[in-house]
Amino acid sequence: MTIIRIVIRDRPVYVCNCNAIRERDALKAIQAGAATPRAVFDHAQCRPQCAKCVCDIRQMIDDANAGFAIAAE
Ligand code: FES
Repeated sequence: MTIIRIVIRDRPVYVCNCNAIRERDALKAIQAGAATPRAVFDHAQCRPQCAKCVCDIRQMIDDANAGFAIAAE
């Protein structure tokens, strides 16, 4: 199995400033099976505050799923 890792460098280190969720922590949650932003928050044991990060987390989930689909081909 080939694993493709896509690193996008223009994202901030923190994907959620309110809860100090780092991008790498969100990616760990996604790799562990978090399929929704809420699941990422649950993994980080917190709740959304302002919710400005939800679209970014959703995009990270979509990107990861696209990567998994390519790797599965
Ligand atoms: S930035 Fe994530 S809840 Fe505010």
